[in-house]
Amino acid sequence: MTTTNPLSQDQLKTLVGQAALEYVVPGEIVGVGTGSTVNKFIDALATMKDRIRGAVSSSVASTQRLQALGIPLFDANEVDALAVYIDGADEIDGKGYMVKGGGAALTREKIVAALAKQFVCIADDSKLVESLGNFPLPVEVIPMAAGQIQRRFADMGGAATLRQKDGQPLVTDNGQHILDVRGLSITDPLAFESTVNQWPGVVTVGVFAHQKAHVCLLGTAQGVRTLSF
Ligand code: 5RP
Repeated sequence: MTTTNPLSQDQLKTLVGQAALEYVVPGEIVGVGTGSTVNKFIDALATMKDRIRGAVSSSVASTQRLQALGIPLFDANEVDALAVYIDGADEIDGKGYMVKGGGAALTREKIVAALAKQFVCIADDSKLVESLGNFPLPVEVIPMAAGQIQRRFADMGGAATLRQKDGQPLVTDNGQHILDVRGLSITDPLAFESTVNQWPGVVTVGVFAHQKAHVCLLGTAQGVRTLSF
Protein backbone atom coordinates (compact mmCIF):
# COMPACT_ATOMS: atom_id res chain seq x y z
CA MET A 1 0.00 0.00 0.00
CA THR A 2 1.38 3.41 -0.92
CA THR A 3 1.04 6.29 1.45
CA THR A 4 0.58 9.80 0.15
CA ASN A 5 2.47 12.65 1.69
CA PRO A 6 0.61 15.71 0.40
CA LEU A 7 2.53 18.94 0.33
CA SER A 8 1.18 21.95 2.19
CA GLN A 9 -0.38 24.79 0.22
CA ASP A 10 2.70 26.87 1.02
CA GLN A 11 4.99 24.16 -0.39
CA LEU A 12 2.85 23.94 -3.54
CA LYS A 13 3.22 27.70 -3.99
CA THR A 14 7.00 27.40 -3.61
CA LEU A 15 7.04 24.63 -6.19
CA VAL A 16 5.20 26.62 -8.86
CA GLY A 17 7.07 29.81 -8.00
CA GLN A 18 10.32 28.02 -8.76
CA ALA A 19 8.92 26.27 -11.84
CA ALA A 20 8.00 29.64 -13.34
CA LEU A 21 11.71 30.49 -13.71
CA GLU A 22 11.73 28.31 -16.83
CA TYR A 23 9.51 30.87 -18.54
CA VAL A 24 11.70 33.88 -17.71
CA VAL A 25 13.66 34.92 -20.78
CA PRO A 26 17.33 35.70 -20.00
CA GLY A 27 18.33 39.25 -20.92
CA GLU A 28 14.74 40.51 -20.83
CA ILE A 29 12.39 42.34 -18.48
CA VAL A 30 9.79 40.14 -16.78
CA GLY A 31 6.27 41.18 -15.71
CA VAL A 32 5.61 40.35 -12.07
CA GLY A 33 2.19 39.93 -10.46
CA THR A 34 1.14 40.10 -6.82
CA GLY A 35 0.27 37.74 -3.99
CA SER A 36 1.64 34.97 -1.80
CA THR A 37 2.36 32.67 -4.76
CA VAL A 38 4.11 35.45 -6.67
CA ASN A 39 6.19 36.17 -3.56
CA LYS A 40 7.64 32.65 -3.97
CA PHE A 41 8.36 33.46 -7.60
CA ILE A 42 10.08 36.73 -6.67
CA ASP A 43 12.26 34.89 -4.17
CA ALA A 44 13.20 32.38 -6.88
CA LEU A 45 13.77 35.17 -9.42
CA ALA A 46 16.42 36.65 -7.14
CA THR A 47 18.59 33.58 -7.88
CA MET A 48 18.80 34.66 -11.55
CA LYS A 49 18.70 38.43 -11.13
CA ASP A 50 22.05 38.84 -12.86
CA ARG A 51 20.65 37.16 -15.98
CA ILE A 52 17.61 39.43 -16.47
CA ARG A 53 17.34 43.15 -17.19
CA GLY A 54 14.74 43.58 -14.47
CA ALA A 55 11.02 43.55 -13.76
CA VAL A 56 7.83 45.54 -14.23
CA SER A 57 5.81 45.24 -11.03
CA SER A 58 2.03 45.16 -10.58
CA SER A 59 1.81 46.51 -7.02
CA VAL A 60 3.54 48.45 -4.29
CA ALA A 61 3.90 45.19 -2.32
CA SER A 62 5.68 43.37 -5.17
CA THR A 63 7.81 46.44 -5.89
CA GLN A 64 9.03 46.47 -2.30
CA ARG A 65 9.89 42.76 -2.40
CA LEU A 66 11.69 43.08 -5.74
CA GLN A 67 13.64 46.09 -4.50
CA ALA A 68 14.63 44.34 -1.27
CA LEU A 69 16.11 41.52 -3.35
CA GLY A 70 18.02 43.88 -5.62
CA ILE A 71 16.01 43.21 -8.78
CA PRO A 72 16.02 46.30 -11.06
CA LEU A 73 12.59 47.83 -11.65
CA PHE A 74 11.14 49.43 -14.77
CA ASP A 75 8.03 51.58 -15.07
CA ALA A 76 5.34 50.08 -17.31
CA ASN A 77 5.70 53.12 -19.58
CA GLU A 78 9.36 52.34 -20.18
CA VAL A 79 8.60 49.10 -22.03
CA ASP A 80 6.69 48.44 -25.25
CA ALA A 81 6.24 44.74 -24.65
CA LEU A 82 7.19 41.96 -22.27
CA ALA A 83 7.93 38.37 -23.23
CA VAL A 84 6.17 37.01 -20.16
CA TYR A 85 4.01 38.00 -17.21
CA ILE A 86 3.93 35.72 -14.18
CA ASP A 87 1.04 36.00 -11.71
CA GLY A 88 -1.24 34.01 -9.43
CA ALA A 89 -5.02 33.71 -9.50
CA ASP A 90 -7.94 33.28 -7.14
CA GLU A 91 -9.69 30.97 -9.64
CA ILE A 92 -8.70 29.58 -13.03
CA ASP A 93 -10.89 27.50 -15.31
CA GLY A 94 -10.13 24.96 -18.05
CA LYS A 95 -9.83 27.71 -20.68
CA GLY A 96 -7.33 29.86 -18.77
CA TYR A 97 -9.96 32.43 -17.75
CA MET A 98 -9.34 33.69 -14.24
CA VAL A 99 -10.72 35.63 -11.31
CA LYS A 100 -8.06 37.82 -9.74
CA GLY A 101 -7.84 40.67 -7.28
CA GLY A 102 -7.90 38.92 -3.92
CA GLY A 103 -4.84 41.02 -3.13
CA ALA A 104 -6.51 44.21 -4.50
CA ALA A 105 -3.88 44.61 -7.23
CA LEU A 106 -6.11 43.68 -10.18
CA THR A 107 -5.88 46.95 -12.11
CA ARG A 108 -2.10 47.09 -12.32
CA GLU A 109 -2.03 43.33 -12.87
CA LYS A 110 -4.25 43.71 -15.93
CA ILE A 111 -2.14 46.60 -17.21
CA VAL A 112 1.12 44.65 -16.95
CA ALA A 113 -0.51 41.48 -18.31
CA ALA A 114 -1.65 43.49 -21.35
CA LEU A 115 1.99 44.27 -22.15
CA ALA A 116 2.98 40.61 -22.16
CA LYS A 117 3.05 38.14 -25.03
CA GLN A 118 2.54 35.25 -22.61
CA PHE A 119 0.66 35.09 -19.29
CA VAL A 120 1.92 32.31 -17.05
CA CYS A 121 -0.40 31.67 -14.12
CA ILE A 122 1.09 30.01 -11.04
CA ALA A 123 -1.33 28.47 -8.56
CA ASP A 124 -1.89 25.60 -6.20
CA ASP A 125 -4.52 23.13 -7.36
CA SER A 126 -7.25 24.52 -5.07
CA LYS A 127 -7.56 27.39 -7.61
CA LEU A 128 -8.63 25.20 -10.55
CA VAL A 129 -12.43 25.39 -11.01
CA GLU A 130 -15.08 24.14 -13.42
CA SER A 131 -16.52 27.62 -13.80
CA LEU A 132 -15.75 31.02 -12.31
CA GLY A 133 -17.81 32.67 -9.58
CA ASN A 134 -17.31 30.84 -6.32
CA PHE A 135 -14.54 33.18 -5.15
CA PRO A 136 -16.01 36.63 -4.40
CA LEU A 137 -15.34 38.69 -7.52
CA PRO A 138 -13.13 41.75 -6.85
CA VAL A 139 -14.03 44.92 -8.74
CA GLU A 140 -12.00 48.12 -8.33
CA VAL A 141 -14.34 51.11 -8.37
CA ILE A 142 -14.27 54.90 -8.11
CA PRO A 143 -15.69 55.48 -4.60
CA MET A 144 -18.54 57.81 -5.69
CA ALA A 145 -19.87 55.09 -8.03
CA ALA A 146 -19.85 52.23 -5.50
CA GLY A 147 -23.57 52.46 -4.66
CA GLN A 148 -24.82 52.35 -8.24
CA ILE A 149 -22.42 49.52 -9.12
CA GLN A 150 -23.69 47.54 -6.10
CA ARG A 151 -27.25 47.97 -7.43
CA ARG A 152 -26.23 46.80 -10.91
CA PHE A 153 -24.71 43.64 -9.42
CA ALA A 154 -27.86 43.11 -7.32
CA ASP A 155 -29.89 43.18 -10.56
CA MET A 156 -27.62 40.34 -11.77
CA GLY A 157 -28.20 38.33 -8.58
CA GLY A 158 -24.88 39.29 -6.94
CA ALA A 159 -24.27 40.81 -3.51
CA ALA A 160 -21.46 43.37 -3.62
CA THR A 161 -19.79 44.52 -0.41
CA LEU A 162 -17.13 47.17 0.07
CA ARG A 163 -13.83 45.57 1.11
CA GLN A 164 -12.66 46.80 4.50
CA LYS A 165 -9.25 47.14 6.09
CA ASP A 166 -8.80 48.15 9.73
CA GLY A 167 -12.46 49.16 9.92
CA GLN A 168 -12.26 51.48 6.89
CA PRO A 169 -12.86 50.91 3.17
CA LEU A 170 -9.66 49.47 1.73
CA VAL A 171 -7.81 51.96 -0.48
CA THR A 172 -5.97 50.41 -3.43
CA ASP A 173 -2.55 51.39 -4.78
CA ASN A 174 -4.54 53.59 -7.20
CA GLY A 175 -6.49 55.36 -4.44
CA GLN A 176 -9.77 53.58 -5.23
CA HIS A 177 -12.06 51.05 -3.49
CA ILE A 178 -12.80 47.35 -3.99
CA LEU A 179 -16.22 45.70 -4.17
CA ASP A 180 -16.31 41.92 -3.57
CA VAL A 181 -19.28 40.33 -5.33
CA ARG A 182 -20.75 37.05 -4.10
CA GLY A 183 -23.40 34.87 -5.69
CA LEU A 184 -22.46 35.31 -9.35
CA SER A 185 -22.16 32.48 -11.82
CA ILE A 186 -19.86 33.67 -14.61
CA THR A 187 -20.80 31.42 -17.51
CA ASP A 188 -19.44 33.65 -20.30
CA PRO A 189 -16.30 35.33 -18.88
CA LEU A 190 -15.49 37.30 -22.05
CA ALA A 191 -18.95 38.84 -22.28
CA PHE A 192 -19.15 39.38 -18.53
CA GLU A 193 -15.83 41.23 -18.44
CA SER A 194 -16.82 43.44 -21.38
CA THR A 195 -20.20 44.30 -19.85
CA VAL A 196 -18.99 45.19 -16.37
CA ASN A 197 -15.95 47.08 -17.69
CA GLN A 198 -18.15 49.65 -19.37
CA TRP A 199 -20.26 50.50 -16.31
CA PRO A 200 -19.45 54.07 -15.23
CA GLY A 201 -17.15 54.07 -12.22
CA VAL A 202 -15.72 50.60 -12.76
CA VAL A 203 -11.93 50.83 -12.92
CA THR A 204 -11.27 47.14 -13.44
CA VAL A 205 -13.29 43.96 -13.05
CA GLY A 206 -11.40 40.97 -11.65
CA VAL A 207 -12.38 38.64 -14.48
CA PHE A 208 -9.29 38.09 -16.65
CA ALA A 209 -10.78 36.69 -19.84
CA HIS A 210 -9.45 39.13 -22.43
CA GLN A 211 -6.09 38.86 -20.60
CA LYS A 212 -6.38 35.14 -19.93
CA ALA A 213 -3.56 32.80 -19.02
CA HIS A 214 -1.70 31.01 -21.82
CA VAL A 215 -0.10 28.55 -19.43
CA CYS A 216 -0.92 27.51 -15.88
CA LEU A 217 1.67 25.87 -13.64
CA LEU A 218 -0.51 24.07 -11.14
CA GLY A 219 0.96 22.78 -7.89
CA THR A 220 -0.38 19.32 -7.08
CA ALA A 221 0.58 16.57 -4.63
CA GLN A 222 2.15 14.82 -7.65
CA GLY A 223 4.24 17.84 -8.63
CA VAL A 224 3.79 20.67 -11.10
CA ARG A 225 1.13 20.10 -13.75
CA THR A 226 1.40 22.30 -16.84
CA LEU A 227 -1.87 23.34 -18.47
CA SER A 228 -1.74 25.11 -21.84
CA PHE A 229 -4.68 27.06 -23.19
C1 5RP B 1 -3.78 39.83 -6.27
C2 5RP B 1 -4.13 38.63 -7.06
C3 5RP B 1 -3.45 37.36 -6.71
O1 5RP B 1 -2.80 36.87 -7.84
C4 5RP B 1 -4.47 36.37 -6.24
O2 5RP B 1 -5.23 36.95 -5.19
C5 5RP B 1 -3.82 35.08 -5.76
O3 5RP B 1 -3.08 35.34 -4.62
P1 5RP B 1 -2.34 34.21 -3.81
O4 5RP B 1 -1.20 33.74 -4.64
O5 5RP B 1 -1.91 34.90 -2.54
O6 5RP B 1 -3.33 33.11 -3.53
O7 5RP B 1 -4.90 38.65 -7.98
O8 5RP B 1 -4.56 40.94 -6.63
